[in-house]
Amino acid sequence: MEEREKLEKLHKEIKKCKKCPLWREARNPVPGEGPASAKLIFIGESPGREEDLTGRPFIGRAGKLLDELLKKNRINRKKVFITSVIKHRPPKNRQPKKSELKACRNWWGQQIEIINPQLIVLLGKVAFDTVIDEGKIFNKYRGKFLIKNRRQHFTTYHPAAGLRFPKIKKTLEKDFHYISIS
Ligand code: URA
Repeated sequence: MEEREKLEKLHKEIKKCKKCPLWREARNPVPGEGPASAKLIFIGESPGREEDLTGRPFIGRAGKLLDELLKKNRINRKKVFITSVIKHRPPKNRQPKKSELKACRNWWGQQIEIINPQLIVLLGKVAFDTVIDEGKIFNKYRGKFLIKNRRQHFTTYHPAAGLRFPKIKKTLEKDFHYISIS
């Protein structure tokens, strides 16, 4: 089976997922979006209102900032894979619970295995803590590369934090300069 088909099959499974209770209140699952051939994967926290309504990742306000950051760095959004560590919107945008993050691990784990990217960009502390998960401190690794499971990861803030704090937006802009693929 081709990688594209594997990813499609996986997303069909994600859409039916009932491994944690989040599906009950969500309107649409948000598996992620982008080609199986992507060299870059961006991983955020969890879908928000707009994402829940449409089933597409990062299309709300934080997504607009992500689009801006990608554009400034000449990264084509259509060529990268964008997802989150949680695939169904938590009620009222609350932080995902440990049990929910655990239930969803396998989904983004399989996405990474199928896509086999050159670089995984972790957006925010929740994505960092969930994916790196070695008692490492977000603030120490923000703006830095880190190898885990023989895969290259880069950590920066979540774009939603950049919307709230101009200083964080500036740092995000600087961090994004490090994101490139060969
Ligand atoms: N924030 C995220 O972390 N993921 C989305 O898909 C949208 C907003």
